[in-house]
Amino acid sequence: MVVSNVKKVLLVLLVVWIGTLSYIWLPGIVPDFLHLRNKAAADEKDARLKDALGKFLNLGIGNASLEHASKGTEEAVHVVIASDSNTLGGMIALINSIVSNTKSLVFFHLITDKASSEHLKTWLMKSKLQSINYEIKEFPVEWVEGKIKVRGGREELANPLNYARYYLPKLFPNIEGRVVYIDDDCIVQGDVKHLYDMKMHPGTLASFSEDCMGVNKRITLLQNVYADFFDLKNKHFMELNIKPTACSFNTGVFVTNLTDWRKHNITHQLEHWLELNTKEELYGNERGGGGSQPPMMLVFYKKYTPMDQLWHVHFLGWNVRRIYGKQYIKSAKLLHWNGRSKPWGRNAAFQDSWDRYFLPDPTKQFQPVRKGIL
Ligand SMILES: *[C@@H]1O[C@H](CO)[C@@H](O)[C@H](O)[C@H]1NC(C)=O
Ligand SMILES: *[C@@H]1O[C@H](CO)[C@@H](O)[C@H](O)[C@H]1NC(C)=O
Ligand SMILES: *[C@@H]1O[C@H](CO)[C@@H](O)[C@H](O)[C@H]1NC(C)=O
Repeated sequence: MVVSNVKKVLLVLLVVWIGTLSYIWLPGIVPDFLHLRNKAAADEKDARLKDALGKFLNLGIGNASLEHASKGTEEAVHVVIASDSNTLGGMIALINSIVSNTKSLVFFHLITDKASSEHLKTWLMKSKLQSINYEIKEFPVEWVEGKIKVRGGREELANPLNYARYYLPKLFPNIEGRVVYIDDDCIVQGDVKHLYDMKMHPGTLASFSEDCMGVNKRITLLQNVYADFFDLKNKHFMELNIKPTACSFNTGVFVTNLTDWRKHNITHQLEHWLELNTKEELYGNERGGGGSQPPMMLVFYKKYTPMDQLWHVHFLGWNVRRIYGKQYIKSAKLLHWNGRSKPWGRNAAFQDSWDRYFLPDPTKQFQPVRKGIL
């Protein structure tokens, strides 16, 4: 009796032992019912990425280089944001919203003016954002000196930082592949990884959200087409063969591939229109000046993939309280307060969605204007 029991126990142990070995050595044959392998692999990947990124974390200003990390960061989501001292709090809220809503590794490429880079570093270091992965670049304003001409009185559109988005490959020579650019008057409520990984049609160079869809026409009371922006009878536009009724798009949020951007000399093309506009009045007489948007509409005409509308709910800086429902705002993946009323100002719609992500400035230089606060 005793002997046969011992035999049974040994047999069971043998089976368990063989099973365990197969589980470890023959991963293709034995199913991973405990999900241990995936988790181990994911942990290892995470550690590898963190290690690679760690080499240039918090490098701050200067020749922050992606060289050591470019191989390890394949899976990191690259996000670019530009801000100056007037809007720095927007950048902070935006970063906070992004990291609050994703589990993916994100690398932030932050562009500021000379006056704000130290301020930004302090703000990040003294907040819960101190452990994010980032680099800070000062935008060399001389790159656009003499090239900006804005008409129609919206001087803020002439801010050199608005044009930093034209120079992404030059600012970040070591980034290959995709980046997401997001204006600093936005917050992200969805997982930025989904935006980053979106499907782009073959042959397109970027993705933008179109202005003529959904409720947008009711907000601007315009058709939101190319003819609103350009006098298409101008000789410079004739050869582009632009359809006057083609939808305009907002350039405040876009996904692009910097490898392709370089290949097609996009920066060079954008500068061409910028310079031509300083010599002849090409665009920007209506709709408050034009800013950095029209050249992008010319260069990316028919070369972009329309973005999912929920990923760029815009015009929140307009009078939209009665147009967007609370539920729609809640379901939006990204909110953009383009227009005059900024979410840190006195009167913008849906400010509570933004306030949720704002982190106070430790130096107290930037303060949202709110009821009861001067
Ligand atoms: C950046 O690199 C350039 C050329 O390699 C060098 O001249 C410059 O001093 C560097 N700047 C900083 C801040 O390290
Ligand atoms: C970016 O473009 C390059 C060159 O066309 C291509 O090889 C690469 O797969 C693209 N990357 C992404 C993430 O689309
Ligand atoms: C981009 O510019 C380079 C040099 O300025 C030129 O050789 C090349 O042909 C240009 N490529 C395109 C697609 O315009």
